[in-house]
Amino acid sequence: DGRYEVTLIKGDGIGTEISDAVVKIYKAANVPIDWEPVDVTPSLINGVTTIPKPAVDSINKNMIALKGPLATPIGKGHQSMNLTLRRTFGLFANVRPCKSIVGYKTPYENVDTVLIRENTEGEYSGIEHIIVPGVVQSIKLITKKASERVIRYAFEHAKSTGRHEVKVVHKASIMKLSDGLFVQCAKEIAKDYPEIKVTFELIDNTSLRLASDPTTYSKVVMVMPNLYGDILSDLSSGLIGGLGLTPSGNMGEKVSIFEAVHGSAPDIAGKGLANPTALLLSSCMMLRHMGLNKYADNIESAVLKTIASGPENRTGDLRGTASTSSFTEAIISNL
Ligand code: IPM
Ligand code: MN
Repeated sequence: DGRYEVTLIKGDGIGTEISDAVVKIYKAANVPIDWEPVDVTPSLINGVTTIPKPAVDSINKNMIALKGPLATPIGKGHQSMNLTLRRTFGLFANVRPCKSIVGYKTPYENVDTVLIRENTEGEYSGIEHIIVPGVVQSIKLITKKASERVIRYAFEHAKSTGRHEVKVVHKASIMKLSDGLFVQCAKEIAKDYPEIKVTFELIDNTSLRLASDPTTYSKVVMVMPNLYGDILSDLSSGLIGGLGLTPSGNMGEKVSIFEAVHGSAPDIAGKGLANPTALLLSSCMMLRHMGLNKYADNIESAVLKTIASGPENRTGDLRGTASTSSFTEAIISNL
């Protein structure tokens, strides 16, 4: 086969350590990818957080990026770079699967959920005002356009992955207009997919049911507004062993950026303690998106086999004693 160029954003905090682990494993697995590392340190241009042009150009050219976590600069008026990237490239659907790792026991078995999060608006629109001191307003913006495209994406995803139900998670009982519009869009789009069941569930009930019996969601694709997806994806990660394990893909019309669900974990950065699994599994989503399934299968099985092989081959977040690099070496030996 030919070779592929992929943009690499190593990220902040533990980002370098986990990205280096991915690069090392890809080399050992002979994945036909040439990484193009870019610097995304933002500058504030006219009060707007701006991604350096070489990074934007690289992502537009390659159309695929793997991204480590980015810290949100505090003060200086900066917005989160994570959100800036999602918005800049129109990455409207955030796909967050969550699957039990056989060989790592938690109180839950056979978790296999897929959550799709609207990724551009809602409470993440960044529209906030101080009306008078002591009274503030944060606007939750919901549009028909963004709702329809993420909901359609969810139906297409269900169709192509053999899940026969789309569950729309909302709180339209209270957010009558915003979530009401989201629900209304889903009812319309559902008409185009008669073979897929559509159901609706209030977010508080979804939280309860996920924590009580997540297997009820095994044949389901959940779709929801932005903040609900942020919260429920962390909840889902907790069911299978934590944020060190869960991948995601930010999907757009043209560009897609794959990243772990977790943040930059500055408290453990530079200490060789970070678990690269979430970024590795994100990279496997990326490989499958590129049609490089056999490399994804190889790397994913090596990761799962390593985790299953015992605490000496697991990082501390999984009650193990491995360092980032000994874990990485163990994965390479299992390829
Ligand atoms: C996530 C993260 C981000 C979010 C943060 C880092 C802005 O928590 O990807 O879930 O809230 O979307
Ligand atoms: Mn989050």
